[in-house]
Amino acid sequence: MEIRATNTPLLDWAGDGLALGFFEDAVELTGELAGLNEKLAGVLNELIAETEFKGKEGSSIVTRVGGGKSVRKVMLFGLGKPDKLKLDSWRRLAAAVARLAKKEKCKTLGISLPVWNNDSAATAGAIAEGVQLALFQDNRFKSEPEEKPPEVERVDLFGLGEQEQAIARANQISSGVILARELVAAPANIVNPVTMAEKAEEIASQHGLQVKILEREECEQLGMGAFLGVAQASELPPKFIHLTYKPEGTPRKKVAIVGKGLTFDSGGLNIKGAGSGIETMKMDMGGAAATLGAALAIGQLKPDVEVHFISAVTENMISGRAMHPGDVLKASNGKTIEVNNTDAEGRLTLADALVFAEKLGVDAIVDLATLTGACIIALGDEIAALLTPDDDLATQLEKAASSAGEKFWRLPMEEKYFEGLKSSIADMKNTGPRPGGSITAALFLKQYIKETPWAHLDIAGPVWTDKENGYNSAGATGFGVRTLVNWVLSDN
Ligand code: BES
Ligand code: MN
Ligand code: ZN
Repeated sequence: MEIRATNTPLLDWAGDGLALGFFEDAVELTGELAGLNEKLAGVLNELIAETEFKGKEGSSIVTRVGGGKSVRKVMLFGLGKPDKLKLDSWRRLAAAVARLAKKEKCKTLGISLPVWNNDSAATAGAIAEGVQLALFQDNRFKSEPEEKPPEVERVDLFGLGEQEQAIARANQISSGVILARELVAAPANIVNPVTMAEKAEEIASQHGLQVKILEREECEQLGMGAFLGVAQASELPPKFIHLTYKPEGTPRKKVAIVGKGLTFDSGGLNIKGAGSGIETMKMDMGGAAATLGAALAIGQLKPDVEVHFISAVTENMISGRAMHPGDVLKASNGKTIEVNNTDAEGRLTLADALVFAEKLGVDAIVDLATLTGACIIALGDEIAALLTPDDDLATQLEKAASSAGEKFWRLPMEEKYFEGLKSSIADMKNTGPRPGGSITAALFLKQYIKETPWAHLDIAGPVWTDKENGYNSAGATGFGVRTLVNWVLSDN
């Protein structure tokens, strides 16, 4: 699919589907639209009058033009009141346009929407992202694709001037989101620690990043007892992934992104029971997937920032070698952990990954993890949790998330709750009481950071959606990639 901004006047455009956006109660056909209406023999006016189209948010109407006109179908989209709209509304609108165009079998699509906030570049980027993210379809595991083409092949954006760069960036970012979706959606017999490491190597070689995969032995030498404790029951070797993007000149800042990478979470000997969603636990590497997706995007965007992408990848399995509930592990910073629940495995793998990240001497560390079911209970499946002791970093991430249209809510790092993790045998337990489960999980992680500004993003809810929602189709969302990219590119 090719998306481009065109200077062709609406009147001269020929194609299968033309989508026009209107604010609420502003559906008069003036300027170019009046000319277009005339050219199409009054079809637009008739359609608006007949259907009493008012431009209400979420409304859309489509009609066939017919009569050998240059445009086969016109689609009208309501945007609602202008003051209520964020940039993400343009992504969602573009997604609605793209889905309808596909349904109407339009190979060529023209989109004319108002400009957001006088910012044509941001508008073009948001539309390009919305179209691509909505139209992405995962047919990898079907012997025959469910839907046959025609696919949308060409998209022309009107009224935005030259936007080659903005659209190229949107393509690069979307490719990262789509990679994350593909990794999360792939079952655990396809995406495993070995194939995750191979994917990291592929990204590195395609986009000039450095890559180092630490094998079990090297992890042992570094004392990563927490990560290796989780990995010890799997038949597959653990892989500790470290990708590095370095800009050509001196980097403006250095950051590390750490993703939880459980390619399957059975719970271990505290096995997940029936009704616990064990069959969905292929998505427990959503943090690592977002990390690799961000690496793919950043490898193409080439910002002047040094970025380390880190993930301790393994499965949480059961076997005669499995951790016993009650085992004591030692992490790479020397701290000991009583594993009172083998299903709280993500924080064990992250502990060693965070210690590794901090040793790199970066200015900030952000981790993403499908860490707790408690987070879904607290915030539902559209909102991720942000936990950090650092207010500056919180503000940076909230800003990045807001322009990405990804929702986060900050939860408090209530130090008092650390009492719930006190152990009589080791420095701490890995699991506290059920109340405040997302907070104690973050407090656990904090033990593995000394002084570097750090934030933890619990993405257990939004990593997956059961039904279509805006530019997300049912399934893996690729959540986190766009927030991470915005954060890396931001000036702070
Ligand atoms: N991967 C799960 C968290 C999860 C649950 C993600 C549901 C997405 C959907 C994590 O490893 C886990 O099992 N957490 C436990 C922690 C508990 C044992 C303290 C949980 O949330 O129940
Ligand atoms: Mn678990
Ligand atoms: Zn898990």
